[in-house]
Amino acid sequence: MPNGVKAVVMYLVAILLQMAHGVDLEIGFYDKSCPSAEETVRQVVAGAYANNRRIAPGLIRMHFHDCFVRGCDGSVLLDSTLGNSSEKEAEPNRSLHGFQVIDDAKAMVEAQCPGVVSCADILAFAARDSASLAGKIHYRVPAGRRDGLVSIESEVITNIPSPLLNATELVGSFAAKNLTTADMVTLSGAHSVGVAHCSSFINRLYNFSDTDDIDPTLDPIYASILRSKCPSNVTSTDPTVVSLDSLTPAVLDNMYYVGLQLNRGLLTSDQALLTETSLKDLVDLNAYYGKVWDWKFAKAMVKMGGIEVLTGSDGEIRKNCRVVNGGDDSELFPDKLFPDSACLS
Ligand code: HEM
Ligand SMILES: *[C@@H]1O[C@H](CO)[C@@H](O)[C@H](O)[C@H]1NC(C)=O
Ligand SMILES: *[C@@H]1O[C@H](CO)[C@@H](O)[C@H](O)[C@H]1NC(C)=O
Ligand SMILES: *[C@@H]1O[C@H](CO)[C@@H](O)[C@H](O)[C@H]1NC(C)=O
Ligand SMILES: *[C@@H]1O[C@H](CO)[C@@H](O)[C@H](O)[C@H]1NC(C)=O
Ligand SMILES: *[C@@H]1O[C@H](CO)[C@@H](O)[C@H](O)[C@H]1NC(C)=O
Ligand SMILES: *[C@@H]1O[C@H](CO)[C@@H](O)[C@H](O)[C@H]1NC(C)=O
Repeated sequence: MPNGVKAVVMYLVAILLQMAHGVDLEIGFYDKSCPSAEETVRQVVAGAYANNRRIAPGLIRMHFHDCFVRGCDGSVLLDSTLGNSSEKEAEPNRSLHGFQVIDDAKAMVEAQCPGVVSCADILAFAARDSASLAGKIHYRVPAGRRDGLVSIESEVITNIPSPLLNATELVGSFAAKNLTTADMVTLSGAHSVGVAHCSSFINRLYNFSDTDDIDPTLDPIYASILRSKCPSNVTSTDPTVVSLDSLTPAVLDNMYYVGLQLNRGLLTSDQALLTETSLKDLVDLNAYYGKVWDWKFAKAMVKMGGIEVLTGSDGEIRKNCRVVNGGDDSELFPDKLFPDSACLS
């Protein structure tokens, strides 16, 4: 074959392969198109964190909720519109927070490079920056995600694992996203920072008839502290929160796993990691080798960040992370609800 023809054939093969596999995310995706993007996001997140430490767990969890529902496409960021109830409305969203930080980062990035950086990437960067601030865990985020056009409340409950799940069900909910059992145990370590509301673990405190009504897998002293914070009649909207990791609540580290060994896992789904030998072995390793867990966590976050991403020309680069481009933003700007109201007067 002449060289020219060979080159053309190889080029076509490359294109076909790319079509078959989709476009991969890339580290440094914005190096040419918006070189300041990652640094800008980092500064906005660092500023917010300096004011409020709770921002870090908020953004890490938000990225998880984004990736598990329709892939990491920024769908968690969309506000509801008149006809559509978005992911934010779903029950497990309760307490998702930090949306303003994403809006602020997006606004600054848009001012530098309009229409270039996706909201899904900004959230992935912000989660990484949060891990760096709260846990000195540093990693590079492959980017090039595009923003989705759809966000549906009812998809949350079927994709985000409930805190009541047992070990088998947890493994299954991660397998549904092509994440392994080891990924699941590693990523659960995100519960080394942040908090849960009483309603997320009240099931463990008053409803076990044979053991003083307390979940027998819960340390009794810890359970009595939890009971004092969350009385049995606590409402599902009660604002009281408890740290997910009682040992080092504000640091993203492996102490979450040490807490599990002490039967101080807060959620049923946390303590469930001790109920199967294969999982418990991983818990013990993570409890013992903190640096190895840091590394595994970074790797698993990158893997989670690649779930069902939109790339290439799929989706769009949203202008405003809360609204699809050209979408109905009437809820954001209530004065537009009645565009003809001027005629009424
Ligand atoms: C293994 C299955 C998981 C279950 C069942 C689960 C469930 C929960 C629940 C119920 C809460 C408390 C919500 C509240 O009451 O306010 C929570 C908080 C949190 N989750 Fe998970 N989660 C899981 C996995 C993950 C993963 C994979 C990540 C991230 C990589 C993550 C990050 C967080 C963080 C950081 C918080 C604290 C949020 C804050 O303080 O604002 N979780 N999770
Ligand atoms: C979560 O859903 C509730 C309704 O179930 C809603 O009132 C609340 O605003 C939502 N939270 C966020 C952060 O959107
Ligand atoms: C709103 O709902 C319609 C019809 O169900 C759907 O086609 C559209 O993609 C939805 N929009 C969003 C932002 O979810
Ligand atoms: C976990 O829950 C499922 C039901 O969803 C049940 O079939 C299974 O036996 C449970 N596993 C354990 C170990 O309790
Ligand atoms: C999991 O992998 C299979 C096979 O590669 C793929 O078809 C499927 O879309 C993937 N699912 C997710 C949620 O990434
Ligand atoms: C108490 O536990 C039983 C059995 O596990 C369950 O069916 C029931 O819904 C629980 N009740 C409350 C109030 O949590
Ligand atoms: C719960 O019960 C306690 C004591 O019986 C009472 O003081 C408190 O007001 C109740 N709280 C709610 C939210 O009903």
